[in-house]
Amino acid sequence: MDTKMKIIIFCFGMILSAAEGEKNLTGVVGRSITLPDSMMERGFLSHDRTIVAFVIKNKFEIQEKIYTDKLYWDDKTGKFTIKNLQKNDSGLYVLDSKEGNVFLSYYRLMVYDAAPPPAVRRLNSSGGCLLECRVEEKTELSWYKDEQILNQSSSGLSLLLTVQEQDFSSSYRCVAANPAESKTLPFDVRTSCREEEEAGSLGPRHNWTVIIVVAAAVSILFVILFSWMIRRKYLGQKRTIRQTQDSEKREEEVQYTQIHIRPDGRNQRDSFPDPSGPTLNSLTTVYDKVEAHRILPTDPAVNV
Ligand SMILES: *[C@@H]1O[C@H](CO)[C@@H](O)[C@H](O)[C@H]1NC(C)=O
Ligand SMILES: *[C@@H]1O[C@H](CO)[C@@H](O)[C@H](O)[C@H]1NC(C)=O
Ligand SMILES: *[C@@H]1O[C@H](CO)[C@@H](O)[C@H](O)[C@H]1NC(C)=O
Ligand SMILES: *[C@@H]1O[C@H](CO)[C@@H](O)[C@H](O)[C@H]1NC(C)=O
Ligand SMILES: *[C@@H]1O[C@H](CO)[C@@H](O)[C@H](O)[C@H]1NC(C)=O
Repeated sequence: MDTKMKIIIFCFGMILSAAEGEKNLTGVVGRSITLPDSMMERGFLSHDRTIVAFVIKNKFEIQEKIYTDKLYWDDKTGKFTIKNLQKNDSGLYVLDSKEGNVFLSYYRLMVYDAAPPPAVRRLNSSGGCLLECRVEEKTELSWYKDEQILNQSSSGLSLLLTVQEQDFSSSYRCVAANPAESKTLPFDVRTSCREEEEAGSLGPRHNWTVIIVVAAAVSILFVILFSWMIRRKYLGQKRTIRQTQDSEKREEEVQYTQIHIRPDGRNQRDSFPDPSGPTLNSLTTVYDKVEAHRILPTDPAVNV
């Protein structure tokens, strides 16, 4: 019966594998894949024209020993899952459902190694920020800036990219891809390129020092000024009280000066300093002689 079945499957395969409707599936080594169609009641699954498992009256039976602990069938969903994929699991799978939902499905499975994880580092360069994306195994590498591809290599171990300072705010990522999957490493150019720039050359770091020192000095000055102003305001009231006391005291301190009496009262105007003269800035006090004849011109006896 087994050989009969195999022959039938083989014939179906011969006729129908050439037909259209093949579904391409990609798998990754070590992972699982679930075939998309469900077979619930009766049918079989073949791999490269070899029947590997049956479903009869809702019971699953593995035909090829190598699929034990590898091929599973879910009696609830009717779906097949192949676990721990290896490269030799690639090939044509045929799912032939004979009862209930009758169909014939072809799957072309390709199993690939997992895409190697990319790593990015900065290289020394003059001008711009030179980045290198590296992988351990040859694969397709791409440098993206937002959604734009900036550099690409269909198969390589490393890919370079130079980022100019005006682009530091854009988002960059390196993508390592194979047909099965892609691995993306976002790279923060803004911090990585700036940080290393500072560590690499003394100029900007010195600038930072200058900025920090100046900022610290300014803030200390502000603190001093502020506390001085508060002190002043607080002590101001005390001081005004003291000042009024002082001015009272000063009023008592009357200053006296000598009076020079000029004998020639008549000609005193001649000895006045010329207001436009060189003594303009110094004040000259002129005391007139109190003459009795000005007040009482008729009484010659009164003379002060
Ligand atoms: C499946 O892959 C083959 C090449 O490997 C391609 O020619 C074919 O068009 C693909 N089929 C579908 C449905 O994508
Ligand atoms: C695939 O290769 C593994 C060893 O890597 C072997 O154990 C397994 O039987 C092979 N499978 C098939 C379908 O040839
Ligand atoms: C980068 O330059 C520094 C000195 O400026 C040097 O010590 C280091 O080895 C260089 N690195 C590379 C990868 O060339
Ligand atoms: C793209 O990468 C290659 C190899 O890493 C490098 O030689 C080339 O300069 C890069 N091109 C650009 C535009 O960064
Ligand atoms: C500070 O940085 C500017 C450029 O940003 C540079 O021209 C200048 O020489 C630097 N000054 C010091 C003291 O490093």
